Amino acid sequence: MSEHPAIPFNDLSRGLRRDRDLLLRAAAEVIDSGYAVHGAHHRAFESEIAEYVGVDHAVGVANGTDALELAIKAVRPAGRSIVVTAGNAGGYTSTAVKRAGLTPRYADVDATTLCLTADTVRDVLDDEVGVVVVTHLYGHIGDIPELRSLCDERSIALVEDCAQAIGADSRDGRAGTFGDAATISFYPTKNLGAVGDGGAVVTRSSEVADRVRQLRQYGWATKYDAAVSGGTNSRLDEMQAAFLRLRLPLVNGFNARRREIIARYRAAAAEIAPEVLTVLPAAGGHGAHLAICRSSQRDAVRVHLRGAGVTTDVHFPLPDWEQAAFSAHAPTTPKAHTEAACDEVFSLPLFPELTDDEVDRVCAALRSIA
Ligand SMILES: Cc1ncc(COP(=O)(O)O)c(C=O)c1O
Repeated sequence: MSEHPAIPFNDLSRGLRRDRDLLLRAAAEVIDSGYAVHGAHHRAFESEIAEYVGVDHAVGVANGTDALELAIKAVRPAGRSIVVTAGNAGGYTSTAVKRAGLTPRYADVDATTLCLTADTVRDVLDDEVGVVVVTHLYGHIGDIPELRSLCDERSIALVEDCAQAIGADSRDGRAGTFGDAATISFYPTKNLGAVGDGGAVVTRSSEVADRVRQLRQYGWATKYDAAVSGGTNSRLDEMQAAFLRLRLPLVNGFNARRREIIARYRAAAAEIAPEVLTVLPAAGGHGAHLAICRSSQRDAVRVHLRGAGVTTDVHFPLPDWEQAAFSAHAPTTPKAHTEAACDEVFSLPLFPELTDDEVDRVCAALRSIA
């Protein structure tokens, strides 16, 4: 056993301590403003997050799952009730699809990136499919232009789930700029985390933004006049908007630190046989939300790391269709890469406030596996 306290998988208290005075000042400002929801901070944050992503519109909502539900409702072509998605991304899209009264259909993921691609999606498309939701899992942006073209050819809408990919860049552009709409979660552990829940839908389209604005507020066209069905109450509150405004300018630095930590883990694991442990790369503009490893001996490796004082987790252990809530939608053909990913992936500690000493200790623990 390690003589040090275990290295936490995440420790939100460090960031909260760092930002404490700023957060308290922002909270006081919100209280003094008299606006608890949809005030000046909320309006400003919607513009700032849209500009950061590189689109024209952002609509604040209560969390990332609501963002998915409302985005799907806003972009879905009428009469098409199937939403294609991946089964290895935590079930959030499946939850949103079911809440929207639609049906999930699962495509396999790419063997290396663990994300949907045009090649993995093509075979499951038919005339009933209205939306494809691509999750930029762990912060990785796949080959989106090809997926976008495939959807365009068939008049299928594309939604990007950027919950794990805020600020992620690829050679083709930033996460959130490719889809008919994209969704963000500000859950506290996310790369841009609130001090509570929060989410947003971002889009280039003013029509889609207007529809989401209507849906987040009971479907109202004007006050007390619900013009569209499927509306709900989903607001990003003023306090969270004020907090998120303070943290948005820090995201690029946080993402760079996350990538640097993953690079150090990869270097430390370089001598280990790949089937025993591979740390997935997070180079370039990768969103680096999680430090993901693959191992054919996951349980044993996690026990070893635990003994060396390193806390790990699994994102995500079960394909959606192996969870009772979604098992009615289980695919009829095997999705081998999704199944393998759920059997093999696990995550190392990763948050910007990890100290260099802690990173060194994780690296030493990794080296001790070889
Ligand atoms: C990939 C992904 N999509 C959606 C969500 C849902 O976000 P929220 O928890 O804010 O509803 C999360 C995280 O929680 C996520 O990791």
